[in-house]
Amino acid sequence: MPTKIILDCDPGHDDAIAMILAHGNPSIELMAVTTVHGNQTIEKVTRNALAVARIAGITGVPFAAGAHRPLVREPEIAASIHGASGLDGPVLPEPEIVLDGRHAVDLIINTIMENDPGTITLVPTGALTNIAIAARKEPRIVDRVKEVVLMGGGCHQGNWSATAEFNILIDPEAAHIVFNEGWKLTMVGLDLTHQALATPDVVERIAAIGTGPARFVVELLEFFAERYREVEGFDYPPVHDPCAVALVIDPTVMRVVRVPLDVELAGTLTLGMTVADFRFPAPEDCTTYAATDLDHTRFWALIVDAIERIGEPG
Ligand code: BDR
Ligand code: CA
Repeated sequence: MPTKIILDCDPGHDDAIAMILAHGNPSIELMAVTTVHGNQTIEKVTRNALAVARIAGITGVPFAAGAHRPLVREPEIAASIHGASGLDGPVLPEPEIVLDGRHAVDLIINTIMENDPGTITLVPTGALTNIAIAARKEPRIVDRVKEVVLMGGGCHQGNWSATAEFNILIDPEAAHIVFNEGWKLTMVGLDLTHQALATPDVVERIAAIGTGPARFVVELLEFFAERYREVEGFDYPPVHDPCAVALVIDPTVMRVVRVPLDVELAGTLTLGMTVADFRFPAPEDCTTYAATDLDHTRFWALIVDAIERIGEPG
């Protein structure tokens, strides 16, 4: 039986590849795609999500737009990394599918409540605003989801400040809610995703597939590589968001450790830091996990396989 997931995202180059991986892998059933402010405005990331759906041939899946800003703070975008559109590089087609009429928060709640307990996995790859609001609006979702596997945070590093990662830092209050709900939560953070580099051999393998979706991913990776080189000083870009999807597909593709996690809200230098308490032993009631080591070869094999399976959508 495939794992049913809700992808809550802000496409975003790596979010787009996360969508493609989730759609193209047979062990995932994409139940909904919801969008959240982040890499760009909610209007732009939602349009991008619909354009990616057209490129990848995603049909029959509800898409809904969510929160346009963080719970407390002023909105912040990542145009320096993702460009003016949020998905700069490839030419995007006009979307074909129409948005679900519901707010993303309601689509998330309805999907969880309408499916059997323990069957829906939440995969957030953007700010945690929608997920936090959903947990507050309908607290029964907390016991009802199978687990939360998110891209965000990091045990030992930041990228939007010295200590905090973008998805967490742009809405730390939402992240604090989500990290403290008591559901099983796995943080696929920067310690892990900085190992998911799109090296030249990987880009060549994707290009060799030769389909429209493959060309789209290559163009995304080329733009991403240039920005990560110029702005962050990386030799190759870290492709963060598909790592969370990969963990749902194959829990052996990365090492995961059980460790108490919390989100700093009071620090002047550490706002939005995800604090991991590695003191031994982890408390009996600890429900949080952090991903630490990636099998780079198998991770990229999953991406290549998904693009091959998608083929050339009609
Ligand atoms: C995260 O921030 C966003 O820019 C990416 O899409 C990813 O989700 C990495 O810090
Ligand atoms: Ca993202």
